[in-house]
Amino acid sequence: MSKILVVKSSILGDYSKSSALLDQFIEGWKQKDASASVVVRDLAANPLPVLDGEIAFGLQGGDNLSDRQKAARELSETLIEELKSADYVVVAVPMYNFGIPVQLKTWIDLVCRAGITFSYTETGPVGLITGKKVLIVTTTGGAHRNTATDLALAHAQTVLGFIGLKDATIAYAEALNMGPDAAERGLTEAQKAIQAFIASH
Ligand SMILES: Cc1cc2nc3c(=O)[nH]c(=O)nc-3n(C[C@H](O)[C@H](O)[C@H](O)COP(=O)(O)O)c2cc1C
Repeated sequence: MSKILVVKSSILGDYSKSSALLDQFIEGWKQKDASASVVVRDLAANPLPVLDGEIAFGLQGGDNLSDRQKAARELSETLIEELKSADYVVVAVPMYNFGIPVQLKTWIDLVCRAGITFSYTETGPVGLITGKKVLIVTTTGGAHRNTATDLALAHAQTVLGFIGLKDATIAYAEALNMGPDAAERGLTEAQKAIQAFIASH
């Protein structure tokens, strides 16, 4: 039985293109493996706390943690456990103002933990969340692929790789706000990449 973690990060609810693509992924995967266990972490529907000094120090541990620090540590551990127990990690990366959604950044801030999800060695950083297959579904209004402005994808791919999630396939839905023909082409291309990912795993 395959275990899948699906991370949604769009703020657009029912209008979200990335959430719809992730739903199509789940449907397609379940057709292939009805017994799959799928955990959906919807970061906009269930927002995580924004990293601040209190939480950052709390994540490092120690005695006399505040209730808020304890809660953030527990949440961080839950999120990391979700990652560790998954065979496949599927992440939505919509572009907002050239970056990733703040909701996805809060998730990253709670799962990047020194000594737990990555460690520094004499030869550099090592990611500790290994052996997973990753599918990144990125959605953009404009056309940024292979240019210096493709910053949401670059950020997500870099930080996921940093914690060990390096084996990533990209499903690209671009130019979604550049007219109906371009939008259809963008969505179709991403749908094909998602179906190819399902077929090849
Ligand atoms: C607040 C906001 C900011 C956006 N900024 C950008 C941007 O900087 N570049 C771009 O190409 N598209 C931008 N878009 C368009 C989104 O990338 C596009 O709507 C995409 O479908 C978002 O994914 P989602 O539908 O899953 O939320 C923006 C959309 C919103 C709502």
